[in-house]
Amino acid sequence: MAQLITVSAPGKLMLLGEHAVVYGRPCIVTAVDQRMKATVEITKEPNFELQAPDVKITDYKKAIEDVGFGEVPKGAKFVEVAVKNFLDCHPERSEGSLANASQNKSGDSSAMPQNDKFGVRITTQSEFSSEFGFGSSSASTVCVIKALSEITGVNLDNKSIFDLAYKTVLDIQGKGSGFDAAAAVYGGILYYVIGGKVIEPLNIDSLPLIVGYTGIKVDTVALINEVSKKGEKYPQVIENVYGQIEKLVEQAKVALLNKDFQSLGELMNFNEGYLSTLGVEGKKLADMIYGARNAGAYGAKLSGAGIGDCMIAIAPEDKTQAVKDAITAAGGKVIDVETNVEGVRVEG
Ligand code: MEV
Repeated sequence: MAQLITVSAPGKLMLLGEHAVVYGRPCIVTAVDQRMKATVEITKEPNFELQAPDVKITDYKKAIEDVGFGEVPKGAKFVEVAVKNFLDCHPERSEGSLANASQNKSGDSSAMPQNDKFGVRITTQSEFSSEFGFGSSSASTVCVIKALSEITGVNLDNKSIFDLAYKTVLDIQGKGSGFDAAAAVYGGILYYVIGGKVIEPLNIDSLPLIVGYTGIKVDTVALINEVSKKGEKYPQVIENVYGQIEKLVEQAKVALLNKDFQSLGELMNFNEGYLSTLGVEGKKLADMIYGARNAGAYGAKLSGAGIGDCMIAIAPEDKTQAVKDAITAAGGKVIDVETNVEGVRVEG
């Protein structure tokens, strides 16, 4: 008898502090209402099966004991390593004792397969393109860990889900701050420090945020490496830049909490200047950002690793349409998002 669960988690946008956050400085991230969904089913056949059409994975299948080993297609990596990390951390829920453990915990002997092995069948589905830089990999990782934790009766708390998701990100990418996994788990707007050292929800019910997508897909790890090389060559300059970014993140936190969007926008403009110094601005982003500012935004900057993905602007209500038009005129695509959204949740 198989058991099935569907879980969803939000995408994210970095508001301020990218790159500096990789070196221990704080950042501010918001979750957005475009969500990733994962349906996880425990099966009698001891296989790992994945359908992830958004990232071109169909009918991917291997023996459950081979999960995380051998050649793994790019689109399957995060989900597969998330499953491996969950099973490694919770061997009591893997083959052999899973059925007994489940019986003891839930008292429902029909919930899990009663043989000595089991498999998982996973389907992921995204409300947003994996090209946007909304953190689809981290969101699907978080969904899968949450789903496995619920379906096996382990019931991990949010910090444990985050820790496993962050480990998954590091296992695959080798670097990264984990801010996207934090947004997927906790939702809302977060003041965040690498590795989840600080995950502080900022209670802000609305944010006049405008998002423009460049149409350019970026390799986040390659850009982290480029910036890191600059830091090795010019340590005093780059450390100073990170220090300045930290200061403006601290001020932006206060501005956000006071709903002082004018100051928030101005601080975003400062942040963009430092990102340009780090060499990650890029012409297309710059055109969209300057277009948004000229159309009346309080401020605009890139969001994420830079060069491509998205830019964000904060604008007064009466300038919103003009800012959107300017982004479109600069060759960008406006993406409507809402903030103040729930983190990972069971859908059914
Ligand atoms: C990428 O979206 C943001 C970076 O700061 C990397 C990270 O925080 O993991 C460049």
